Amino acid sequence: METTLRIWILISFLYFVLVNGQNYNVLNFGAKGDGQTDDSKVFVQAWNAICRGDGDIKTLLIPSDKTFLLQPTVFQGPCKSSSIKVQLDGVIVAPSDKGSWPNPTSKMWIKFSYVYGLIIVGSGTINGRGSSFWELKLKASQRPTALHISNCDNLRINGITSIDSAKNHLSINKCNTVAISKINLFAPETSPNTDGIDISDSTNINIFDSTIQTGDDCIAINSGTSNINITGINCGPGHGISVGSLGAGGAEATVSNVQVSHCTFNQTANGARIKTWLGGQGYARNISFTDITLINTKNPIIIDQQYIDKRHLAAEESAVAISNVKYVGFRGTTSNKNAITLKCSETTHCRDVVMDGIDITLADGGKPKVDCQNVDGKSSDIDLMRDCFKHSTSFN
Ligand SMILES: *[C@@H]1O[C@H](CO)[C@@H](O)[C@H](O)[C@H]1NC(C)=O
Ligand SMILES: *[C@@H]1O[C@H](CO)[C@@H](O)[C@H](O)[C@H]1NC(C)=O
Ligand SMILES: *[C@@H]1O[C@H](CO)[C@@H](O)[C@H](O)[C@H]1NC(C)=O
Repeated sequence: METTLRIWILISFLYFVLVNGQNYNVLNFGAKGDGQTDDSKVFVQAWNAICRGDGDIKTLLIPSDKTFLLQPTVFQGPCKSSSIKVQLDGVIVAPSDKGSWPNPTSKMWIKFSYVYGLIIVGSGTINGRGSSFWELKLKASQRPTALHISNCDNLRINGITSIDSAKNHLSINKCNTVAISKINLFAPETSPNTDGIDISDSTNINIFDSTIQTGDDCIAINSGTSNINITGINCGPGHGISVGSLGAGGAEATVSNVQVSHCTFNQTANGARIKTWLGGQGYARNISFTDITLINTKNPIIIDQQYIDKRHLAAEESAVAISNVKYVGFRGTTSNKNAITLKCSETTHCRDVVMDGIDITLADGGKPKVDCQNVDGKSSDIDLMRDCFKHSTSFN
């Protein structure tokens, strides 16, 4: 009995030290968590105490069973500690509609900047309450990203959910060494520009085991990225996993070493997509899509190098050069007779494109078609790619 009691006291003590002692609970700073009161200032105070403090406390706790209303808020680093954890177990909501934003032209709702070793974990949710922004049919640039993380090396995000972002759910910019896992991103299929995850100017990114159901790209891999590993993503509805769009306005874009594997595209507009604007420069190379399950996907495989702003028709003078792209193991159904579209640039052509184990059928069981321009490559299925890879050979 006495031993049991001692152990119990010891456990309680450890629990207190480890769970409470090292946490700054936003409630202890005076957050209301009633979903009505603006808790932004309190969150920033708690953040600053952790970020600037000398103590051991390195966790910001946002407890469950509470709903915190936040205005556009910046969690600014650098911090003294080499790692800071945000334990998100409760719900964070944006202002109820666009009219209640203090600055309706804010480009971000929740932003983390220059925080080394940032960890955002928990079973909580952020709700961007984006519907009023969608309904106004505003330009994408006039709507805020829900969670924007920039210049945060050694970043880890796990478990959280984002719903109804006004624009993209999560953007990762200038972050190196990132692991994102088991997150859920939800917005209606019709919501505009609600990309799941946008990545730019970042390297060594791992994204795995997550569910993304949204109105635009599930994941968009933009310029300045390399060593991107995406696996186990359940995408759909949405616009698939995209490299690009790259090279807008003649820009030089670079994307390399991207591997996407074990993903499902469930009734998405696209599956594996690479899109570049006419007139860009740079490259997108060494990209692979492996082990992909398709459920009634509209464009399972698509390269579009003629992505244009229809109001500004331009002649092609240059292009982002696409090379070494592998599509391996695509299985399932498409809703589109042209299941494979490879519309490559006349200037650069797409080089070293590999198709292996492509088993895509139309809903009625028919064999789909391939639409190709300016592409060189090889395929294990000579019939399928006959009209495409004219100057190349099969490897079987
Ligand atoms: C890609 O991610 C998966 C899942 O996390 C992992 O098993 C695999 O080793 C990673 N590949 C590389 C090249 O990092
Ligand atoms: C291509 O990318 C993979 C990882 O995605 C990497 O392991 C490999 O070294 C790269 N190949 C080249 C030629 O860069
Ligand atoms: C595909 O999506 C439909 C509709 O949302 C859903 O009912 C079905 O379970 C999904 N299938 C898979 C394999 O995830």
